[in-house]
Amino acid sequence: MRIVVLGVGYLGATHAACMAKLGHQVLGVDTDESKLAQLSSGVVPFYEPHLNELTAEMVAAGNLRFTSSYLEAADFGDVYFIAVGTPQKKGEYAADVSALDSLIDTLAPLLTKPAIIFGKSTVPVGTAARLRERARRLAPAGTGVELAWNPEFLREGHAIDDTLRPDRLVLGVVEASDKAVDAARQVYGSILESGVPFIITDLATAELVKVSANAFLATKISFINAIAEVCDASGGDVVQLADAIGYDSRIGRAFLNAGLGFGGGCLPKDIRAFMARAGELGADQALTFLREVDAINMRRRSQMVELARDACGSLLGARVGVLGAAFKPDSDDVRDSPALNVAGQLQLQGAAVTVYDPKAVENSRRLFPTLAYADSVEAACSKADVVLLLTEWDEFKELDPHKLGRVVSRRLLLDGRNCVDPSVWRQAGWTYKSFGRV
Ligand code: UDX
Repeated sequence: MRIVVLGVGYLGATHAACMAKLGHQVLGVDTDESKLAQLSSGVVPFYEPHLNELTAEMVAAGNLRFTSSYLEAADFGDVYFIAVGTPQKKGEYAADVSALDSLIDTLAPLLTKPAIIFGKSTVPVGTAARLRERARRLAPAGTGVELAWNPEFLREGHAIDDTLRPDRLVLGVVEASDKAVDAARQVYGSILESGVPFIITDLATAELVKVSANAFLATKISFINAIAEVCDASGGDVVQLADAIGYDSRIGRAFLNAGLGFGGGCLPKDIRAFMARAGELGADQALTFLREVDAINMRRRSQMVELARDACGSLLGARVGVLGAAFKPDSDDVRDSPALNVAGQLQLQGAAVTVYDPKAVENSRRLFPTLAYADSVEAACSKADVVLLLTEWDEFKELDPHKLGRVVSRRLLLDGRNCVDPSVWRQAGWTYKSFGRV
């Protein structure tokens, strides 16, 4: 099929390359010319495992192209995927969907032939119906234009796999929109043939599936972090506890890693936008628990700063080595990163902080230019009074505590992700502290 992907940020660039991999002809559209130039030469402007290789391969094969021209896109496409961002509004909880509106306003008047538009962005419930009406009103092709919602569930660091081998495909359509269902079956043909569940819903349900999934994941993380606080108060071990409750198949072990909590471009803003939308709909009481989920999560960051202060005596002049800046491993994304937030707070309180991350130093420097950055673990921890492990990269999990012990001034490790074996570090002479573990 001839597929247009509108917006080639994280979601769109991944989706475009994966659709090309499925054998479609794909055109990626964006307004950012420098991004388009990079992608056109097969270079992905962010870090995602294997995406560079896949993009370069698809560009070279002629299956994937990029443009800033909506005219070209409207001439090219049978199917359009919307993959633009819906960030949190400044000073509010609600999502800013203005990029979606202006996209429809630009694209729809150019649609002179029948087309299917699939929305992938995470949106407040009700957005799809509104955009569908708007697109059909503005398009010369009128009711020949169909709009359906096909939420994306990809995780950074696993984006290709999550797109090509998803747990499920969800498609929200207006009653009896066979056109959209048929088009989705063609787009995702080989994925569906492999037995991936295909759930067809109405528009509102599809929108809600996405935000509910993220709210549930956020709740799971904050649940275990709340239990970690009780473990700290009582002397329990939250890692063993998570293992033990995780064996219950009704609970499951995934997303029960206690630590510094969740960040990134999705979970924090999505739970806030979900609360805001529920409020607008008069169902605000239903989601007040998400306020607590958010509060537990944000508390982790200040608790980490407290842990560092207690461990050092005073933060004034303390030398702190921070390992990790990305919001999670296998990503260079520092949006709402708990690690970087803690590093910034420590510095504001008088500590001399040096940060190392395998992939996210460049992005961190842009966001927090006043922090010091190093290009290796050893350089970040040189003469450190305390080492904070804040993102669970494999490189950090595999650290040799004896070797690292030789460069620091005090063998003091605060493990913000419960990701190394305390007994190994203690045997190497380190004082080890973390959340929810004695
Ligand atoms: C999330 C959803 O998983 C994905 O389905 C959706 O499409 C987008 O949002 P992502 O933001 O890439 O994906 O990251 P995810 O793997 O969900 O992790 C989110 C945050 O939770 C990270 O900061 C991670 O460190 C933290 N986390 C995760 C925990 O603190 N504990 C856990 O047990 C799991």
